Amino acid sequence: MKTLCLQAEDPKTPEIAAKLLLEGRLVAIPTETVYGLGANALDESATAKIFEAKGRPQDNPLIIHIADPEDLDRWCRDIPEAARKLAARFWPGPLTMVLPVRDCVPKRTTAGLNTVAIRCPETPVTRAIIRMAGVPVAAPSANLSGTPSTTTAQHVLHDYGTDGKIAAIVDGGECRVGLESTIVDLHEDVPRLLRPGGITPEQLREVLGELQVDKAVIGQIAGDAVVRAPGMKYIHYAPKGDVIILRGTAEAAAAYALARKSSSVAVLCYEEEAPLYGGMNVVTYGHENDPESLAHGLFAALRELDDAGYATIYARCPEEGGVGYAVQNRLKKAAGFRILEV
Ligand code: TXA
Ligand code: MG
Repeated sequence: MKTLCLQAEDPKTPEIAAKLLLEGRLVAIPTETVYGLGANALDESATAKIFEAKGRPQDNPLIIHIADPEDLDRWCRDIPEAARKLAARFWPGPLTMVLPVRDCVPKRTTAGLNTVAIRCPETPVTRAIIRMAGVPVAAPSANLSGTPSTTTAQHVLHDYGTDGKIAAIVDGGECRVGLESTIVDLHEDVPRLLRPGGITPEQLREVLGELQVDKAVIGQIAGDAVVRAPGMKYIHYAPKGDVIILRGTAEAAAAYALARKSSSVAVLCYEEEAPLYGGMNVVTYGHENDPESLAHGLFAALRELDDAGYATIYARCPEEGGVGYAVQNRLKKAAGFRILEV
């Protein structure tokens, strides 16, 4: 069967997508962060299809998506005041919370953990689909495991084709944020940031006061390490070529890259730096002083570099906080933390 392409603005879309989900099928859904590969979170054979389609390791739990913040209590228990405050402030929006899970959520969804990652996305069509289905929707980022996340419907179709590997895709255009949600673990005494995203550490600290940052956010984690977010130990966001971050002034970085100019070498940089790399393969991903634009453009740029098949990619990476912190985290992971001072 062919993959159905549904439009977000078509009033029939929520009903069609909800029906497919309740039949145990996979539906790719747009969210404000990235596209998700959705299945009924309460149906173990449906969520099994997510792991199979993505090539996702079985020990990597899924995020469940709810239509309304009030639904939090249906799937989580022992909810601390801090989680209520975060939900009130940031939901619907790009924030995922890890909380103690109720028994009604199947083990396959949580990979057997006693917690579940939960979020209420912002995108209206996706909330309408979830509301109509009447079940939480488990959805990892829709990319094939190990490739950059998908921020357009075209990216999803690039990864899965249209021959029915997924039952349907809902095309909601480009994702607003462009990076996966911020994940905060709230099941222990001190809230812990597991993955930075569109909600910044500064915004979280305003609500929480104290926030620890998990070591997986900052550096490379060994493959056999015990980590809080199991997904953090796998190679992520990695293009096929070698990504190397050039740290230093724009001029020094350009001089370094230009000295290594070749048809198999490319540069990933800010719009304003592109003219410095005359004659080189250049892909830009946003403006240096506008981290939101960098977040929005990063994954599409990494995919473009992948498709072109460059062997080496020299990348310029923001250093500051805010959303730039999340951009830095994804790009450093793509680079396997290889950073050159130039
Ligand atoms: O923005 C997003 O969060 C997107 C959209 C589709 O909502 N989803 C997403 O899912 O990024 P995924 O599966 O690609 O990343 C989820 C991360 C993984 O690293 C996983 O290990 C972690 O969340 N995770 C899931 N459940 C967890 C839990 N109970 N405790 C700790 N980490 C968990
Ligand atoms: Mg992912």
